[in-house]
Amino acid sequence: MRKRIFAANWKMNHGPTAAAGFIHQFRSRWVKGDAEVAFFPSALSFAAVRAAAGDPSPFKLGVQNVYAADRGAFTGENSAPMAKDAGADYVLVGHSERRHVFGETDADCAAKCAIVERSGLTPLLCVGETLQQRQKGETSSIVTRQLREGLAKLDQIEATTSVIAYEPVWAIGTGQNATPQDAAETHAVLRRALRDLIGDRAAEVSILYGGSVTPANAAQILAASDVDGVLVGGASLEVESWLSICSA
Ligand code: PGA
Repeated sequence: MRKRIFAANWKMNHGPTAAAGFIHQFRSRWVKGDAEVAFFPSALSFAAVRAAAGDPSPFKLGVQNVYAADRGAFTGENSAPMAKDAGADYVLVGHSERRHVFGETDADCAAKCAIVERSGLTPLLCVGETLQQRQKGETSSIVTRQLREGLAKLDQIEATTSVIAYEPVWAIGTGQNATPQDAAETHAVLRRALRDLIGDRAAEVSILYGGSVTPANAAQILAASDVDGVLVGGASLEVESWLSICSA
């Protein structure tokens, strides 16, 4: 009943030329199945990706960030209504790089999730503990707080349509992935937290795992219970490895 989602977070990689080339190559070799494949290119490459994907696009498209206002004097920012107008389906919210490099708080995430939903887009809310928090045994409390506070401004229907990604900070870009068991345990914590918020509808929310997913570990991670897909950075930048993950 839940969607399986393979999401490529390209971060600050692939300008318009490289991004379009990637999509053309990927499209010509990818075999569509039941799972959804989503690309999160840089905002500057979004139009090129959309054009290369074709109309209708066989992929979902998303942006990596928005500012929590519809418009205005916010030099350098992009808004959720603009992302909608550009053809996005998803918006990443609360990625650990936004939280830790740019200082975004749970309150920022809540404001962004709200404006994303109200713009007719789906927030993909990322949560995850640092290594220090994990070592102190705080994983469950941290991810539960990030989930509850991130979704705090959504009503039950909106929260049901959101997507969650568990991305332990220590696993992002480090080559050290969570074990399938670590992922299953934390995904179960998140599912319980969702149940507290939206009851039985919690079963409809896809929870992705992210953090050093590669062609070598994707199948094992996807087989873990409550793991409904993956959010991939580094290994989504090469056509070959992304094709391999999407067929795991
Ligand atoms: P990674 O990044 O796959 O390179 O670890 C994942 C992410 O940041 O979403």
